[in-house]
Amino acid sequence: MIRHPAFRPRRMRRREGLRRLIRETHLTSDRLVMPLFVRPGAKVRAPIASLPGQFQLSVDELVRECEDLAKHGVPAILLFGLPAGPKDERGSGAYAKDGIIQQAVRAIKARVPELVVMTDVCLCGYTSHGHCGVVKTPGGTRRGKRKSKSLPKTLQEGEYWVDNDATLELLGRVAVSHAQAGADLVAPSDMMDGNVGAVRQALDAEDFSDTAIMGYSAKYASSFYGPFRAAANSAPAFGDRRTYQMDIANATEAVREAQLDVAQGADLIMVKPALAYLDVICRIKQAIPHPLAAFNVSGEYAMVRAAASRGWLAERPAWWEMLVAIRRAGADLLITYWAKEAARALRSG
Ligand code: PBG
Ligand code: ZN
Repeated sequence: MIRHPAFRPRRMRRREGLRRLIRETHLTSDRLVMPLFVRPGAKVRAPIASLPGQFQLSVDELVRECEDLAKHGVPAILLFGLPAGPKDERGSGAYAKDGIIQQAVRAIKARVPELVVMTDVCLCGYTSHGHCGVVKTPGGTRRGKRKSKSLPKTLQEGEYWVDNDATLELLGRVAVSHAQAGADLVAPSDMMDGNVGAVRQALDAEDFSDTAIMGYSAKYASSFYGPFRAAANSAPAFGDRRTYQMDIANATEAVREAQLDVAQGADLIMVKPALAYLDVICRIKQAIPHPLAAFNVSGEYAMVRAAASRGWLAERPAWWEMLVAIRRAGADLLITYWAKEAARALRSG
């Protein structure tokens, strides 16, 4: 009978100084990306009910927030827009020259040029039907006379189709308009096949070969986007996103998706959501030597905030643990609504 274990892992856990010596994963503000929502108006800082602690910001307030983020050492933001004008079936507000994102990017670049500005490239926040692409019904792609009539809210899977290749052309326009405004990186989040390649070609054709692309490579049809859709007013009016976003049950397919994005010229690849998909992060990181981001999405943030507000868990250790776990799984970049808090915590130690 062995009375004294030969090796005692607890020896190196006795004091913080010892634990520190063998700690394998570190958070650093260098890897943080803060998602932000921009909306029309001036001096608007509208709290988002589904994301306590987050705001829809008018351009002036957004610039102030960006200055603050830069001061805290957050190197990058990812911008989402709420358009001013009416939405239409082709999401034309997404590629309007003076659209909300285009205005916001110009303002940030003028005032906080060192901050890396990433923009979400998608149509769902700009289409009347809330889908991420052009919707086709059996009567053909809707245009012309019927354009003003909105699609029935009762359409079910099989009664409509999100047209892949018609969407690609629009995504290219969105990306070019963001690049013209000065975006450093564009991030197509629509999950159309060939989206990264289409955006790359559109950018290169307009002489934006230095504008980088982050592919939302493995983006799942997840329920954890709920609070975001409320914040960005981008929920689909009918059906769901399962004909274009990934099936939550698949992991090898995620590796193929990431390979496709790399082959099409993605500078960064991404897994989204993060917490329920740590295995996917791990697999992609092991299979593909490419910088990998993970999106710690709205539902993951809201869950912790809600529990913390009831005193059911301690907020800071909870999100710290989440972020460490996402890094430990293999993510290089962390896109998280806690980016500012994390940078602040990392600075003060
Ligand atoms: C839109 C988009 C979504 C998110 C980022 N871009 C939602 C969706 O696909 O419906 C989710 C972000 C979050 O939940 O924090 N294409
Ligand atoms: Zn979308």
